[in-house]
Amino acid sequence: MKPKDFDFNHKFETRFTQYFPKIKEIFTSLYKDHKNFSEDYFLKFENIMREAHSKRPTLFKKKDNQKMGQLPNWICAHDIVGYCLYVDRFNKDINGVYDNLDYFEELGVNLLHLMPIMKSPKDENDGGYAVSNFEKVDSKFGTDKDLKKLISGINSKNMYLMLDIVLNHTSNEHEWAQKAIHGEQKYQDYYYFFDDYAEVEAYNNYMPEIFPSKAPGSFTYIKELNKHVMTVFHNYQWDLNYANPEVFLEMLQIILNYSNLGVDVLRIDAPAFIWKEQGTSCQNLPKAHLILQLIKLSVVIATPGMALLAEAIVAPHLILPYFGHGTMECDLAYNATQMALQWDALATGNTRIMEFSQPQLQLKPLGTSWINYVRCHDDIGLGFSDSSIEKAGFNPMLHRNFLKDYYSGKLDFSWAAGALFSFNPKTNDARISGSLASLCGLEKSLEKNDRLQIQLSLSKMELMLAQCLFLGGIPMLYYGDELGLMNDYSYLNNPAKSYDNRWMHRPFINLEELKEPLQKNMHLFDYQKNIKYLIKLRKSLPCIADTNNIHWLSFENSSLIGFRRFDTNGDIIFVCNYSNQTISGIRLNTFFEKQISILNLITTEFISTNEPINFLGYQYLICKVH
Ligand code: GLC
Repeated sequence: MKPKDFDFNHKFETRFTQYFPKIKEIFTSLYKDHKNFSEDYFLKFENIMREAHSKRPTLFKKKDNQKMGQLPNWICAHDIVGYCLYVDRFNKDINGVYDNLDYFEELGVNLLHLMPIMKSPKDENDGGYAVSNFEKVDSKFGTDKDLKKLISGINSKNMYLMLDIVLNHTSNEHEWAQKAIHGEQKYQDYYYFFDDYAEVEAYNNYMPEIFPSKAPGSFTYIKELNKHVMTVFHNYQWDLNYANPEVFLEMLQIILNYSNLGVDVLRIDAPAFIWKEQGTSCQNLPKAHLILQLIKLSVVIATPGMALLAEAIVAPHLILPYFGHGTMECDLAYNATQMALQWDALATGNTRIMEFSQPQLQLKPLGTSWINYVRCHDDIGLGFSDSSIEKAGFNPMLHRNFLKDYYSGKLDFSWAAGALFSFNPKTNDARISGSLASLCGLEKSLEKNDRLQIQLSLSKMELMLAQCLFLGGIPMLYYGDELGLMNDYSYLNNPAKSYDNRWMHRPFINLEELKEPLQKNMHLFDYQKNIKYLIKLRKSLPCIADTNNIHWLSFENSSLIGFRRFDTNGDIIFVCNYSNQTISGIRLNTFFEKQISILNLITTEFISTNEPINFLGYQYLICKVH
């Protein structure tokens, strides 16, 4: 054995000794009452981890060591900037992404999130979130070999890769689902099947509907079996039954294989849903957290460099448990609350709800961090807490109605071009679809050729991204937003997509055309340049590393909000105006013990903290404090 291998193995054994007892404890508490439970499962579990570690390529073992040397956690670093894309919509296929690695490098992004690329049904597949084979690249995106080539390209550029594991369900075309339909009991036990409709109703009574308009209820009748199968999302997405230990171990094996493929951040899709209990909402249940903890502990033992991201788009008080309660769970979670609050502030010109929501969000443990984002492939849910809306002096229901009207074009004075997604007439709930540019008003203002509004829209887009970039955590750009792409309505011509208006903000990019804004889109030139500058700036500032070093700043004027990030290498201050009005005479001296000079990182001029500053509509300020 080479000395290096000895070292890797020694470290593995140390981690195994340290964490396996906890795995056994959690596994036992989850499965001790299962009909097949026996000590043999521990051996099976151990073997999955040992095999994964022994198969792990040396390159990734070395990368693990480097990552583990970074405190408090490698994902908290200041120099990681993410970019999320659909490979086919970005540039045809996986090779098209490979051909553009220089584009990402030049833009400054170094963590690529490829939206689902594994095999899924041809027509309806929920954007790839209905997986038919977790380990086979869908031929419409390329081959397994293409993916490997892309991953080695990513590694040679010192970038990181993020992929999804769709943990909650498989597509109805998955081999397990097909075997279940053909009567194999073993595979029927991988899902939730019920003969009796009374059982279905007992669940449905407590389970909120996710896609009420297209897929009401949480079950689908399978006529071949005369049974009902649980389908929380669409009828072709069958929920896996994690109360069955075989299901857990199958998925664990796949997760560790993803790790060995070269995944740096594993986006765990819809973790809130993975444990079901009759008489509950079947969301965020304590045992869902235990499943995640088991996954985390296994990854830490076998392939420790892979970070886990919880895609839990849930109420603010429910998100923190995904970071773990004293036991390791997920390293990252989406900061969906902050994302929605930025949209709230943009519509109202008032930042108080954002301000009042921060104390709760700041409770996350050291070493964990947020994915900060302004847009992604999904809708925008207005899931921030009623209490912070009330504290800001608004009525939660009326306030949310205003936001929905504002972004879906129901208000004459709003320039936003979005749409309501999944309106539920029973609860009046709805979320919002639309691209960053269109929601910020660019689409309508270009249509009307209104120069002032075009400018204001671009300022809003820049402000949204600037706050997200300097907030700490990993900022995740959504493909096309760096270019100012607007809604794409071509989805309406495709019956497999036309019912789901989230496709309006999943555009096709024509990179060649868009990389030349001067020729076609003159108005976007400064915007695109500024976004690039902001990314570079962020990556040059060590204080952006997330060490829970953020302190929010409150202003008398409710349109202004800011924060200071502390660091021994120098702090930064970020302040911004969420209204279209100029706000004059703001002095920053209340935030400092004595009058000092701070460096405006945009103009590169020094300003005194005692000097009155004017903020134009949607203007932001980033200063370095020496
Ligand atoms: C996640 C995905 C979303 C998908 C759902 C079901 O929330 O982001 O696009 O519809 O999971 O898989």
